[in-house]
Amino acid sequence: MDQSKIRNFSIIAHIDHGKSTLADRILELTQTVQLRDMTNQILDSLDLERERGITIKLNAVQLKYKAKDGEEYLFHLIDTPGHVDFTYEVSRSLAACEGAVLVVDAAQGIEAQTLANVYLALDNNLEIIPVINKIDLPSADPERVKHEVENVIGLDCTDAPLISAKSGLNVDQVLESIVKHVPAPKGNPEAPLKALIFDSIYDSYRGVIVFVRVQEGMLKVGDKIRFMAAGAEYEILECGVRNPKEVKLQELSCGVVGWFAASIKSVQDVHVGDTVTSCSHPASEPLPGYRKMNPMVYCGLYPTDAAKYNDLRDALEKLKLNDASLQYEAETSQALGFGFRCGFLGLLHMDVVQERLEREYNLTLIATAPSVIYHVYLTDGSMLTIDNPAHMPEVQRIERIEEPYVKAEIMVPNDYVGPVMELCQNKRGVYKEMHYIDDGRNQLEYEIPLGEIVFDFFDRLKSVTKGYASFDYELIGYQPGKLQKMDILLNGEIIDALSIIVHKDFAYNRGNAITVKLKDLIPKQQFEIPIQAAVNGKVIARTNIKSLRKNVLAKCYGGDITRKKKLLEKQKEGKKRMKAVGSVEIPQEAFMAVLSMD
Ligand code: GTP
Repeated sequence: MDQSKIRNFSIIAHIDHGKSTLADRILELTQTVQLRDMTNQILDSLDLERERGITIKLNAVQLKYKAKDGEEYLFHLIDTPGHVDFTYEVSRSLAACEGAVLVVDAAQGIEAQTLANVYLALDNNLEIIPVINKIDLPSADPERVKHEVENVIGLDCTDAPLISAKSGLNVDQVLESIVKHVPAPKGNPEAPLKALIFDSIYDSYRGVIVFVRVQEGMLKVGDKIRFMAAGAEYEILECGVRNPKEVKLQELSCGVVGWFAASIKSVQDVHVGDTVTSCSHPASEPLPGYRKMNPMVYCGLYPTDAAKYNDLRDALEKLKLNDASLQYEAETSQALGFGFRCGFLGLLHMDVVQERLEREYNLTLIATAPSVIYHVYLTDGSMLTIDNPAHMPEVQRIERIEEPYVKAEIMVPNDYVGPVMELCQNKRGVYKEMHYIDDGRNQLEYEIPLGEIVFDFFDRLKSVTKGYASFDYELIGYQPGKLQKMDILLNGEIIDALSIIVHKDFAYNRGNAITVKLKDLIPKQQFEIPIQAAVNGKVIARTNIKSLRKNVLAKCYGGDITRKKKLLEKQKEGKKRMKAVGSVEIPQEAFMAVLSMD
């Protein structure tokens, strides 16, 4: 394949600005997918993505495009997620490309992740093609948005296509811009093989399927290859591209984005960011790879059925192949038994991982309340990193505790600036600056403890701004705080999995709120159960769960046996996601109760 005819690009945008819809239209226009096979958001292949209407995973497809210059071009399109928690997926896709199509909603204008993604594309030296989407909307104002892109980002929008991804209007202009502005790959086809791994997935028949961008040299069936960082060697059994169905080829030439399988059963050998080279002519240096992402939020994941511990371990191992930012290690909890401490990039990521483990690996899990990583300085001069509140040392040994802070950028219409400021202040935020984006909108900058962001910041922001704000954050470092561990006691027993770290000024309120909430969430038992919140062994809040089990049949006076059965079944369902801790059954919701207590 002549490299000058290859174009590798990603589509980047703020969430919901229309990336996946544009990808659909491009697949149609290039007749990659026949109309009868077309579904909406065709590249969102996970069920979860379709149900939630969001992209979680990157996806790479090959398309053929006959351009107006009469030449046929080979496009590799990588669709990427827009949510802040999945930035890692975006940065990996971008490293496999030379260009990025930046989609901006003509009614909404630039949002927080528009900027964040543009910075990522610039970091990767990509050519950025601005595209203004949704011009069919009555509220669309493409001229204003073009100005915004020019003023705020500094991209020339004179030739920016104004499109409707929904109707397909002017989408052909996007394809022409790609041909014209995205540079062709420039790797040396004669050099030793260097292919960058940007994703992988486990297939139970064929082992690990590895997704690569061939930067130099070429790769073909029968080649012996080596993973440079892992050191493992394999023989390529199959390779090809996706369109989006799998297409088998004999080789992947220089500049191509594709996949290969080599009967790899040991998932530890494949690392996203590693370089694949040939055993007979190895490259001397690997490609630069990716910046490692460190998880921001941790929680414990436990199987509700203790016998499924090994299944959970296998599932995490396989899921990690497809989700390189997921981290985990074994942990035990007095309350919940054997499980794993898992690290995530954010709460949505945590939610998605739990749901994927349950659906794709058929597990039922209990997740404990999320926690950030605290730096605990001890009186003996040492420092501990604590990602599980239950492991906090005794207070006598602690000199000070530092917590992670983020720089939060919030874009918000003028009318909501007041409520957003109030919210940030309530979350212990420190005001930094504010500037105008245009006469209707502002960009606010705050420094906020990450621990407070984890506690329902997103939901609060959405509700105080009626969904009109967008938000992005990045970690900026650690600062000391007046923090304490709060234990929750059920029936006089500390439940380690319910312990949280709270700020001293909030301890009393949160203690009260959580005990009241737990009272509603934990089902009544045959006996009365006291719920207490305690700091340093001192009880600061208390309620009781009254005895007597709720009799769901009480209202069924008649003898309708099927109805009774149904109700009992329903009650059983509700119980599934519970964990018996001593004599008390704790439902999943109780572990998340700490997240929305105000
Ligand atoms: P994520 O994958 O979650 O990051 O979102 P996305 O950017 O891929 O957005 P998606 O393509 O899923 O579109 C979001 C919504 O906008 C959907 O309801 C689309 O139907 C709608 N939409 C996309 N393009 C247009 C357009 O040109 N006009 C109108 N009116 N709606 C559009």
